[in-house]
Amino acid sequence: MDAKSIEADLVRVLCTEEQIQERLAELAQEVWEHYEGEDLLLVGVLKGAVMVMADFMRHLPGSAPMDWMAVSSYGSGTKSSGVVRILKDLDADITGKHVLIVEDIIDSGLTLSWIRTNLLSRSPASVEVLTLLRKPDAAKVEVETRWVGFDIPNEFVVGYGLDYAEGYRGLREVATLAPHVYS
Ligand code: XMP
Ligand code: MG
Repeated sequence: MDAKSIEADLVRVLCTEEQIQERLAELAQEVWEHYEGEDLLLVGVLKGAVMVMADFMRHLPGSAPMDWMAVSSYGSGTKSSGVVRILKDLDADITGKHVLIVEDIIDSGLTLSWIRTNLLSRSPASVEVLTLLRKPDAAKVEVETRWVGFDIPNEFVVGYGLDYAEGYRGLREVATLAPHVYS
């Protein structure tokens, strides 16, 4: 895909690169203060959270280890199926650790709710959630989310790690995708 055709697929920018970085810096400060002196592990959900993890982590005033999980819940469409399968599990044992799940987006909440329950069954000290984006009007289940970057309307979005059929992840902003692309 060339830059021109990507632009034609987007309707409007919801979060600019600058807004994202500014918000992640604020969240990193809050998170750091919350976990002061604790054994914190950042858990990213592949692949969408790659950009959030990279930038959030670099805004943290100190270092914390990261681990990754990959799950499948969507197939190639734009709606969550609620059926979650682990494609890649964590490398680390999280027993006794303070886990912070780092997510790109909470849409229906089905995926994250499943992941949260799954991680809680492994006896961590705590599990909290940080997400860059949340769609309050799309929630099918409530997921306790301590840190939210931006609440956005219930539209399909791409960019900053979020894909449609593996495209658009590299955009530096978050934008809505034109319906002609997926309908
Ligand atoms: P749910 O609905 O289970 O969503 O909360 C889980 C995962 O689906 C992806 N997702 C999206 N990806 N644009 C995307 O590119 C979207 O608007 C969108 N909504 C959900 C995302 O990976 C999320 O973690
Ligand atoms: Mg995705």
